[in-house]
Amino acid sequence: MRTKLVAGNWKMNLTAAQGAALVESFAKQVAVRYDVDVVVCPSFLSIPKVRDTVRHQGILIGAQDVFWKDEGAFTGQVSAKQLAEQSVAFCIVGHSETRGRFGKLETPESTVPFFAETDETVNLKIERLLFHGITPILCVGETLAEREAGTTDQIIEGQLRAALAGRDASELYGLVIAYEPVWAIGTGQTCAADEAERICRFIRSVVEALADNEVAIHVRILYGGSVKADNAKELFSKPNIDGGLVGGASLDAAGFAAIIMSA
Ligand code: 13P
Repeated sequence: MRTKLVAGNWKMNLTAAQGAALVESFAKQVAVRYDVDVVVCPSFLSIPKVRDTVRHQGILIGAQDVFWKDEGAFTGQVSAKQLAEQSVAFCIVGHSETRGRFGKLETPESTVPFFAETDETVNLKIERLLFHGITPILCVGETLAEREAGTTDQIIEGQLRAALAGRDASELYGLVIAYEPVWAIGTGQTCAADEAERICRFIRSVVEALADNEVAIHVRILYGGSVKADNAKELFSKPNIDGGLVGGASLDAAGFAAIIMSA
């Protein structure tokens, strides 16, 4: 059925040399596996070196973000067209750290909301990525306040509807969606496996409503938020959890290798 996928989101960690050393080290620990897609998402600057290091090792490259236009006067931004030129296969969009749900509240500068992702820019980014043949890893998830208010499902459905509006079902077969509860990211607090499975099943039902049953069967849904070697096996054994989007634990070769082996 669906091939499992484990992606490491390195965030703003590791130089290009450190990233290359890390992939070399864990590639040795996990022989090339055809039953799990392994993706690493280094910072933009590290992509060429890491990509060249993992060539022929079955490890795919993802980016952590993208701008929603192909070119133009957008200082500091990187386009899907530029990522495609670097053989980037996946790209994270809508991560809670780029959606600006924190940044907006913490800083009053009016530029922050402009550069932070909104549901609308997430939608535009997905359109550009698909156009350039890059698979989006669309992140959705609720904050602790939203969970406590009992609005988790509503928030996630709203994020999915906004992100995928205007897309034809035929564009969405390869899509990857990551359920990342904001309160579980970098906190060591993992969502209970049964609840993560419930949400991932719910995400699949929303995809079915937005596209069709075939797409819902094909879309891979990952769990992200404090995934570690010791909780990965239980999470990945759930029928609707097709792998993980791993932050902190992907920076350790042995730990990431163990997570991959759990898939
Ligand atoms: P942690 O695994 O460090 O909680 O991060 C999860 C994440 O944000 C992956 O995108």
